[in-house]
Amino acid sequence: AVEERIDTLLETMTIEQKVGQLALRDFGTYSAEQIPALKEQIRQGEVGGFLNVNFSSVNDNAFAELQKIAVEESPQGIPLIFGQDVIHGYETIFPIPLGQAASWNPALVKKGARIAAEEATTDGIRWTFAPMIDISHDPRWGRIAETLGEDPFLASILGVAMTEGFQTDDPSRPDAMAASAKHFIGYGAAEAGRDYNAAYIPEARLRDTFLPPFKAAVDAGLMTIMSSYNTLNDIPATANQYALKTILRDEWGFDGFVVSDWNAVMEMLPHGFARDAKHAAELSANAGIDFEMYTDTYQQHLPQLIKEGKFTEAKLDQAVRHMLRVKMRLGLWENPYPRGNREAVILSDDHRQAAREAARESFVLLKNDNSILPLAPKTKIALIGPLANVPHEQLGTWIYNGNKKDSVPLVPALEQHLGGTDSFTFVQGLEYSRDTSTKGFGKAVEAAQQADVIVYVGGEESILSGEGHSRGDIALPGAQQELVKALSETGKPLVTVIMAGRPIELGKVRSQSDAIMMAWHPGTMAGPALVDVLYGEYSPVGRLPITWPKGEGQIPIYYNRMATGRPATDDNYTLIGEIELGVFQHGPGNSSNHLDYGHEPEFPFGFGLTYSEFEYSNLAIAKSRIALGETLKASATIKNTGKVKTTEVVQLYIRDLVASRTRPIRELKGFERVTLTPGESRVVEFEISTDALAFHNQKMEKVTEAGEFELWIAKDATSGLKGRFIVYE
Ligand code: IFM
Repeated sequence: AVEERIDTLLETMTIEQKVGQLALRDFGTYSAEQIPALKEQIRQGEVGGFLNVNFSSVNDNAFAELQKIAVEESPQGIPLIFGQDVIHGYETIFPIPLGQAASWNPALVKKGARIAAEEATTDGIRWTFAPMIDISHDPRWGRIAETLGEDPFLASILGVAMTEGFQTDDPSRPDAMAASAKHFIGYGAAEAGRDYNAAYIPEARLRDTFLPPFKAAVDAGLMTIMSSYNTLNDIPATANQYALKTILRDEWGFDGFVVSDWNAVMEMLPHGFARDAKHAAELSANAGIDFEMYTDTYQQHLPQLIKEGKFTEAKLDQAVRHMLRVKMRLGLWENPYPRGNREAVILSDDHRQAAREAARESFVLLKNDNSILPLAPKTKIALIGPLANVPHEQLGTWIYNGNKKDSVPLVPALEQHLGGTDSFTFVQGLEYSRDTSTKGFGKAVEAAQQADVIVYVGGEESILSGEGHSRGDIALPGAQQELVKALSETGKPLVTVIMAGRPIELGKVRSQSDAIMMAWHPGTMAGPALVDVLYGEYSPVGRLPITWPKGEGQIPIYYNRMATGRPATDDNYTLIGEIELGVFQHGPGNSSNHLDYGHEPEFPFGFGLTYSEFEYSNLAIAKSRIALGETLKASATIKNTGKVKTTEVVQLYIRDLVASRTRPIRELKGFERVTLTPGESRVVEFEISTDALAFHNQKMEKVTEAGEFELWIAKDATSGLKGRFIVYE
């Protein structure tokens, strides 16, 4: 029925009206003087949709007004689609996506997306520019904060969860939003982590590492995709026929629409790929970009390009069909207007509670010597640091609608938890994360000396990550390292909480701190969530979704790297002394390592401590020889040997030992979260089909090759119980 309705509509539309459907306008860029002409264009049926309607200085709530013109006054009455970057919450802000990924909890990630959609649709936003499922191996890249981590398996599962949360299984519900997986493709491989930079990805890696999260989302019913700004192997993604047509449409059968990134069509001029706007329109329209974001090269040039035979009306119809299909699936004809009910929905108690749960599940405990955490109820605390009491900085990047007035930092949360300020003293020490002045150190040290425990909350303010905000140096900024050193010299136990959009170089902060917890940018409920975890009402459960480097010199570093001919192991290089960056501490050993950093990261992928201990035993592989097409069953017994009920993230890795291409030294193929009380044990079982072992061979065929494999059931990507199995033909 949808296709027939589209056929009928197409028959009545002029070329200009069809091209109009492909125009995505940024309402935030219009001045008051331009609005009447814009409205006239809608009236003529020459606008397909808007982004940023509530970021206009002219009228920040024009959804209904604009829609009414489209629905009631335009020739076909085709509703507009309103899109926006609803990335990690709308007004109730959840942790940045990288933090959500650290929960390894698809249900939680899905719930966060569901809540974001419930809130955003009250205003009329039915389309979000998320999930961001770019794979990146480079924490210098500011947008790593928006990713779901470095691993294609984890990012696929969480990307699907987010997509399902936004879209639901019935996207025509008025509280559903179309998701847009982005950025297609290769954006996270920007050279040197400099945003928008060129990406070079060999085909096999593209298919085995970068594409799987997108394919998984498409298979789960993803409605739209956003192309990326970068060039991929020297072809701008905005005009990449191979990606947009061959892979996306022909191989995967994607039938929603593809939107360009903001201004990306025109950026093919500075790329040196398009001569002028007309050429840019020709290249991207022919490559398969349906919806042009912000610029208007389609409107200016597609009719003429059709006349000249450089584009065809059949292709135009196809692009319009993609647009109308999504609009119809969203039920925009039935429910074109904002669903309202803002007061009841936005920042409701349930939403805040969900944000609090999401935040505490995102925290990753990296160190906890002498079980300094959780804190005893009566401990006298010196709370220090530039991010302990800054409502807006804890919200993170891309929080268009998040408001600092709704955001609760640690100081008031602590005050509420402790019933006053008697047992803690707060001294900021530094005014903001990049502050280089040491003038506040005296008071901070004084407070530390009088306390039982120091809790330092530092890291990076929001603006140091996100789009266009990459860093070359990923160390703690400003004078924070000096402040941590001064605090540690008091001899008081030191708990360091880091809020940041990326793993940061810890340097000596690691040894100076007794406990370290990565809190990412936790969102609206950062403070209460931190209290929950610091005081042990909730044990940390997060695991790193990304390898944590010792410093930027190790980048790119990722757990699923390829084997080398001279792998570094603890046995084949000589540790001369304690690692001190900048000083050659490791003997060479002629293996793949750095003289200064060694071969291990600061913390491996999958790593994270809890307030308990877990013992792994009894690795069992049901059949150590399986035929191609069969399912492997492996299990291990996991026992909570500690004193606290909590959740362990049990991870399954494999390695294909000999293949027709070199294979990664480990690949995540499964994980399960198990919650156990002290003394309790459970057999955790994994099943993997031999299809899950497939990769792209030299002919670019996706194959599972027979042979020997290693398998680990593990706490992280570098440890675990190890077994072997054989796949035969
Ligand atoms: O959605 C974003 C994209 O990720 C980067 N450029 C701008 C878009 C729209 O705001």
